[in-house]
Amino acid sequence: MTGPLERERLPRQERPLQRRLLEREAARLAPGASEESALGRRVFTEGRGAVLTDLDGHQYIDLAAGTLTQSLGHCHPEVVAALTDQAARLWNVHDFATADRAALCDLLAELLPEQLDTYAFFSTGAEVVEAALRVVQAVAEPGRNRTGALRYGFHGKTQGARMLVHWDIGNQALAGNSILGYSPYCYRCPLELSYPSCGVRCATLVRRHIAEKPNVSALVFEPVLGAAGVIVPPPGYWEQIADSCREHGVLLVADEVLTGGGRTGAFLASERFGIEPDLVALSKGMASGFPFAVLAGRAPVLRHPDAARAGSTASTYAGNPLGIAAARATLEVVRRDALIEQVDVLGGVLAEGLADLYARYDVLGEVRGIGLLYGLEFVRDRASREPAPDIAREVYRAALDLGLRTALGGNVIRLAPPFTIGRALLEEGIALLGRALERVTEGER
Ligand SMILES: Cc1ncc(COP(=O)(O)O)c(C=O)c1O
Repeated sequence: MTGPLERERLPRQERPLQRRLLEREAARLAPGASEESALGRRVFTEGRGAVLTDLDGHQYIDLAAGTLTQSLGHCHPEVVAALTDQAARLWNVHDFATADRAALCDLLAELLPEQLDTYAFFSTGAEVVEAALRVVQAVAEPGRNRTGALRYGFHGKTQGARMLVHWDIGNQALAGNSILGYSPYCYRCPLELSYPSCGVRCATLVRRHIAEKPNVSALVFEPVLGAAGVIVPPPGYWEQIADSCREHGVLLVADEVLTGGGRTGAFLASERFGIEPDLVALSKGMASGFPFAVLAGRAPVLRHPDAARAGSTASTYAGNPLGIAAARATLEVVRRDALIEQVDVLGGVLAEGLADLYARYDVLGEVRGIGLLYGLEFVRDRASREPAPDIAREVYRAALDLGLRTALGGNVIRLAPPFTIGRALLEEGIALLGRALERVTEGER
């Protein structure tokens, strides 16, 4: 192997320092970590670009980009400089203006579609989704007291975000006041139809909901469903639904916490599907992993007197100076270095590499994606399509052992490389994934 993964100190399987640290910590740390970190059992000490280093000195190509946050890779020098400078000057003055805030607003106005000209700042994905829900409730016409959402959608772990998708995390059934429409999950079509002969019936049914239920104020949606395993809608899906929302005065609220910032090859995934949202929630791609979120909206919505009451966009960390500095530096680099064009180029490399893996491994039921966001759905075999989370877990672990970090959720492995990863390193990462698949499917150890 060439490149940055050369500098190994110990055989990869040996991780004495990490084992000891994790054992010590386990005595006091509450369980409930993500499947990824619980299975991965790694202690990372450093990230540079697309490469992570663990406590025992092993290196990994990070095709999960942090938590799909590191569009510029880890510790981009300009973001580090902006944060360091800000950290030496000012950390928190509630939501008072800072020198960078106006500049960040100007930058967002350049990067976002023209109609999204008004912004509020928050600190996490769930927080910005909650803020969007408050705006929707504030501006809704009398009687419009329900929200639309999509099955399999994920909007965060706060109560409102979970109620949107009726998410029962095992300890509490949260049947919300929302109406759930069909997601465009063609691989496991709930209507047992096939595209294109289906005529995108899932969208027709969502449209019917919107037309027939006069009490719906907004549709909250992920243009591409991320946590559900990167579900990319077929042509026609969003066109039908967005038209219907417009026709019936239903606000379009795009949750682009995961997709926003260029990940799909446009600043917003909505742009790729011709959706013109009224509100957009952004977070992961905004500030290089620093907790930060943006609510972008049309002026008439965000400046509506009932949505703009004193304090409605303020909280302890909302718009904190460090987040603003990190976001400004991140987005400056995205714009200056034309990184969204780079997403398209590297997305082609990723698509090609994954198509090759799909051709070789029957446990890959479907490989789907857009830009630099891909999901690999694992099945027992292609004929049965039986979900195989055990195989996904094994591949995830084998990849880590080989020096590749991916994102795991159920029977799907997601890939979301930094936009700045070089072609060679991306190809090396795909090759490592191929070796992990080979190990698992051939039982090699
Ligand atoms: C689409 C979407 N919305 C909201 C969230 C919640 O973000 P956070 O974990 O920052 O609260 C996520 C997190 O993955 C997400 O993918």
